[in-house]
Amino acid sequence: MIKSQGWDWNVVSGNFREIWKNPSVESYYLLNRWQGQNKKEFLDLGCGLGRHSILFGKNHFNVFCFDIKEEAINKTKEWAEEENLVLNYQIGDMLSLPYENESIDCIMCRNVINHTDTEGVKKVINEIYRVLKHNGECFLTFCSKDSWAYKMDWPKVDANTMKKMEEGPEYGVPHFYADYDLLMELFKDFEIINLEHVGNFYMHGDERVTSYHFHLLIRKA
Ligand SMILES: C[S@@+](CC[C@H](N)C(=O)[O-])C[C@H]1O[C@@H](n2cnc3c(N)ncnc32)[C@H](O)[C@@H]1O
Repeated sequence: MIKSQGWDWNVVSGNFREIWKNPSVESYYLLNRWQGQNKKEFLDLGCGLGRHSILFGKNHFNVFCFDIKEEAINKTKEWAEEENLVLNYQIGDMLSLPYENESIDCIMCRNVINHTDTEGVKKVINEIYRVLKHNGECFLTFCSKDSWAYKMDWPKVDANTMKKMEEGPEYGVPHFYADYDLLMELFKDFEIINLEHVGNFYMHGDERVTSYHFHLLIRKA
């Protein structure tokens, strides 16, 4: 299995950094949904700068912030202290989560699980299954094979995984790409609540490109 790497947050600045400080659109839906289900233990799996940890912390969830990068955890902690929030912090690799079996109600794993290879993705899914309580839910995003980047001639790691060779925080970081059938196979032990294929349009140099992601909401039934 390929070595886990994480993001280099030190090279993320300006407008790009601001994006990672604002909660994602779907996080408000999940907040509302999980409050309605009286969920309490929230795991921000690959928390980055902490935008979702802060959102859920402010809304009285018991938040577990987890990331492989010390600087991500430090930044999340700094932000939480400014907001007078008491959260739980852990540095580690998503391949092996430091939480008890059936201890977590809900998990946000946005733009994270794709940072390993096929074997790694299977391990993380097993870990998510292990730590979720019965009826626990998890939101994940996956890079789609329909994305422009999947057509790039970057070094292959396995049939679904490439190293992203683009300057920035993910340089050399493995990226796993999925399609519908692969996701169905990977999540056969879960109930699929919702699956969307979302396109983001942007300029890459002079070229207009589209990145697609799967947004997946699952339940441990
Ligand atoms: C694109 S950022 C997303 C951050 C956050 N989920 C958000 O939506 O703002 C990906 C994060 O996943 C972390 N990460 C990557 N591989 C990881 C691993 N093997 N274990 C834990 N965290 C990892 C990175 O360090 C980075 O902070």
